[in-house]
Amino acid sequence: MTTTGVEREGAGELDRGLGTDVDAPHFQSRHGTKPRSAARSYSAALLTLGAAAIHFAATPDHVSEYLPYGIFFILLGAAQVALGVSLVVVPSRRLYSAALLGTLAVIGLWVMSRTIGLPIAPVPWRPETIAFPDFAATLLEYNAAPFVAGQTSHSVADLAAIAGTETIESFTLTAGVTMTRGLQAWAYNGTVPGPELRVRQGDRVRVTLVNHLPAATSIHWHGMRVPDAMDGVAGITQDAVKPGGTFAYEFVASDAGTYWYHSHQDTSHQIARGLIGSIVVESKEAPAANVRDYSLLVHTQPGSDAIAVNGTDSLHLRAAPGDTVRLRITNAVVPGFDGAPITPVLAGVPYLVAALDGHDLNAPQRLGPERIPLGMGQRADIIFTMPNTGAVRLAGLKGTALFPWSTPATASVTIGVGLLPSVNVSSLPSFDLTRYGLPAQDAVADAPQYDVTREIVLGGAPGFRNGSFDFSDTFDGMASPYVPPIHVREGQLVRLHIVNNSPKFHPIHIHGHVFSVLAKNGRRLTGAPIHLDAVLVAPGETWDVAFKADNPGIWMLHCHVLAHASAGMNMTVNYEGIYTPYTMGTQSGNIPE
Ligand code: C2O
Ligand code: CU
Repeated sequence: MTTTGVEREGAGELDRGLGTDVDAPHFQSRHGTKPRSAARSYSAALLTLGAAAIHFAATPDHVSEYLPYGIFFILLGAAQVALGVSLVVVPSRRLYSAALLGTLAVIGLWVMSRTIGLPIAPVPWRPETIAFPDFAATLLEYNAAPFVAGQTSHSVADLAAIAGTETIESFTLTAGVTMTRGLQAWAYNGTVPGPELRVRQGDRVRVTLVNHLPAATSIHWHGMRVPDAMDGVAGITQDAVKPGGTFAYEFVASDAGTYWYHSHQDTSHQIARGLIGSIVVESKEAPAANVRDYSLLVHTQPGSDAIAVNGTDSLHLRAAPGDTVRLRITNAVVPGFDGAPITPVLAGVPYLVAALDGHDLNAPQRLGPERIPLGMGQRADIIFTMPNTGAVRLAGLKGTALFPWSTPATASVTIGVGLLPSVNVSSLPSFDLTRYGLPAQDAVADAPQYDVTREIVLGGAPGFRNGSFDFSDTFDGMASPYVPPIHVREGQLVRLHIVNNSPKFHPIHIHGHVFSVLAKNGRRLTGAPIHLDAVLVAPGETWDVAFKADNPGIWMLHCHVLAHASAGMNMTVNYEGIYTPYTMGTQSGNIPE
């Protein structure tokens, strides 16, 4: 009896405590109070239990990301279950206040984790990106190029490699959770980066992706002109491969050069976790006997800010005096929010920049040490002859600093043995691709006119996105998925006029095609023709690039700073007569960025 009285008393207090003045008359009758407060107790309890369920559901993801997060989510869920039950069994004003305080604390932690970062985190005090999954619950399913009834149309799913008699090179890439340097990583075949895939130009490449991750995934062949169905973009060219599933990729390696592969599902997180690797397509001519050919994937160590090359911060490569050395450098480093490039420097010997983004340059000149700016995703091939004495060094590789005043981690590559050359990186000039090598013909760059011209203004703005207030990185003031696509017909020449009105660097990347660079800041190139799959647009710069629409499909065009891409810098190039049956969103679970 007494207990019931206390209970009523407590609940009544609570109602007054919540300040529902209009309800005040109800308190005058004790009999009237009971059902109302019971209803409140139950709904508060249900909300709390719902929150607990969400936290439990998110636990496996957090465990795989960072164990202390996982433990926190289990404790939080358990506390919420206890609270939910207590709200019904022993409701009291004190309990409600505690619940309210607890909720505010959890919200506070979330805001902190997204703004200044948390002291206990995979990288302490680094803010988490506000990404798609945070708002997935409010995002509708979206199709980049829906089927239109009454129109002759082909599905991207049918745009696979046509059968042929090429030499077949088969690989299996098993994506799974692994540990590197005591930290958790997601990796192909257990290593970060994954294995180097090396094939010959003209080979038919078959790769079986086996997914042993706790999440869906895919593989994209960055820079390679593959058939659309093999492009690996979850939600546009395929459904993400579910845990336990497999997917068979097949394409002919038509262009020689340096490329890389990475997940294109929840890309901003999965690349950072380690799902990356090099793919090298050697040219048809057999290389000379004394050529040393190395691919160097420069990347962030999963779960940290450390920078590494092929998994280590001090890589040593063999080369004898007189050897010709080719270094194929790929930037897979997760940049800071400014999207700044890495600037590797080769010291100790003169060298040639032989290729950019896998495409050879015409008549490259010998260079002394210079900083070669490489935006996220870009590649540079460097060739040199080993000197008679001393080692050669690739320096200038810096990780992303946590704060402007902190010293970022560094990495270096030493080629050969002997005395190390010393180099003062910050005093060196920057390599300028607009006046390097000698002019040559380029059908796309020399075209008298273009069939389609699109201006893309790079910007950013706070605003509503996916149902939440957030900062967006924008194309023409719009954030994906609402940036209108570029509509093309097969055979058309397409020109892009890219204007960077933002204070950040944006490497703008196209799938399935290659840009010919026309001009930088309105000035045409004076050196060799430049072919890129990503053009690095620095703050305030304007670049004109063009491509031939010769690979039908629905193709992504996005900033390769993946935090920018997931914050809106994403669009597609849509060919007439092609649709995609795939969608992105919460139901499908496809998250291309
Ligand atoms: Cu390196 Cu859309 O990708
Ligand atoms: Cu960007």
